Amino acid sequence: MEPTTFVLFGATGDLAKRKIYPALYNLFVDGKLPQSFSLVGLGRREWTDESFRANVEQSLRQFSRREANDAELVKRFVDAFRYCVLDIGRKEDYQKLLRLIEQREEALGAPPNRMFYLSVGPEFFEPIAANIQDSGLGSAQGWKRLVIEKPFGHDLPSARDLNLKLSKAFDEQEIFRIDHYLGKPMVQKLGSLQQANPVIQALWTNRYIANVQITANETVGVEERAGYYDHIGAVRDMFQNHLLQLLMMAAIHLPHDSTSEKVRFKKKKIMEALEPVQKQEVGASVIRGQYEAGTVQGKPVVGYTSEPGIAPDSMNDTFIAARLLIEDSYWRGVPFYIRTGKRLAEKSTRIVVEFKEPIKAASETSEEGATPNLLIFEIGPNEGITLQLNTKDLEHEGEFKPVHIDIDLLGGQDNVPEAYENLIFDALRGDSTFFAHWDEVELSWQWVQPLLDAFEENLIPLHSYAAGSYGPAESDALLAQDGYHWWFDV
Ligand code: BG6
Repeated sequence: MEPTTFVLFGATGDLAKRKIYPALYNLFVDGKLPQSFSLVGLGRREWTDESFRANVEQSLRQFSRREANDAELVKRFVDAFRYCVLDIGRKEDYQKLLRLIEQREEALGAPPNRMFYLSVGPEFFEPIAANIQDSGLGSAQGWKRLVIEKPFGHDLPSARDLNLKLSKAFDEQEIFRIDHYLGKPMVQKLGSLQQANPVIQALWTNRYIANVQITANETVGVEERAGYYDHIGAVRDMFQNHLLQLLMMAAIHLPHDSTSEKVRFKKKKIMEALEPVQKQEVGASVIRGQYEAGTVQGKPVVGYTSEPGIAPDSMNDTFIAARLLIEDSYWRGVPFYIRTGKRLAEKSTRIVVEFKEPIKAASETSEEGATPNLLIFEIGPNEGITLQLNTKDLEHEGEFKPVHIDIDLLGGQDNVPEAYENLIFDALRGDSTFFAHWDEVELSWQWVQPLLDAFEENLIPLHSYAAGSYGPAESDALLAQDGYHWWFDV
């Protein structure tokens, strides 16, 4: 891997502490960092190199997947870390940063390959990118990359505006938009399972699949993020990005020799084939909800509007369920149901593929008791793939009963890399397969925009649901209209 200087904006922040340092450390322990690697942390706080390193060490002890108790090893890791005080709006600070980076590159004999990781609020993306450009930090001698996190815009116009501004300093192939769901091991396996297995490939069409259910349920509420969440809601926080990415990854058909470009091209095609919803018709396929007081896993909790920092008359969505249709030859007629929400019964991210029952449909002799075949992808917190088949229970007068076959795609590993490790590793290698391309982001906002407008204008009801449930009853009714139900709600 090429020598790299990792320039981290927001080095004193929470994401860096919880995710970025532990991910880098795990890569280091696994021998997956470049031989010549140097990190410059940036923040407003008056830290020194020493206090910075002490903070990083602390974060490793608290959050790293790999043990961080070998002092010698940890020291070797943090030796590559420098800290620089930087005010995002001050041009002179970028000159100071440039000098520091050049010194480091010279000392290490490394070319100016710089990865700028923006672990800061979205309002800072544009000024930072512009200052990187103006200061000469994005040197033409080596490569430069920009890694940013969601939210990428607030709606379609703001996303387009942001993209235009970033594109003045970075080309599309230099921008790595993180969607941490794309880093999850099971999501990364999704495309390849179908790509490498003719049996799955053959089934992956509307001929055999009845519907696909994508769920990202959470037990947590709004936590300390009231100020952010109350302006965002489930639709922007989870649906526009993570869940539409899951839809693309579930629906994708990949040729055997897929390159990063091909994957992104195919994802774009899926988004283009999504049947758009009109603002006036959002209610026919979208359910929005907000949690009321209830009990989550045995603990009583308050309703959303009683949470600290939330307006008592807030109409924000904490739950969304939707039916989406992909108008292409593979998926025409197969509903994709998507739902996500806060304060639900359990934390669970999963995709359930429900198969048709062709023999039953053809013969009209009902196979009493047989349940549909399912392929279940558990994405988190547990990971696994299970195939549900039917067998005859000979002890009970030959009734059908479902059996579950677990498919071990992770090769028995129980200590698998976390999303951020996979993504940072890929960004260091310059592999953009599991990052969101602008086309996908734009098309996602395009699909979501009528929902945002309908929510804003209150064109559809805001249903309430008890904390600790599986969301409003209307979410069940959405599937019942088509003769289905959400699997595994208990
Ligand atoms: C984040 C959202 O992007 O994803 C959070 O902002 C949400 O609101 C989180 O809790 C869920 O991620 P995960 O990996 O725990 O499913």
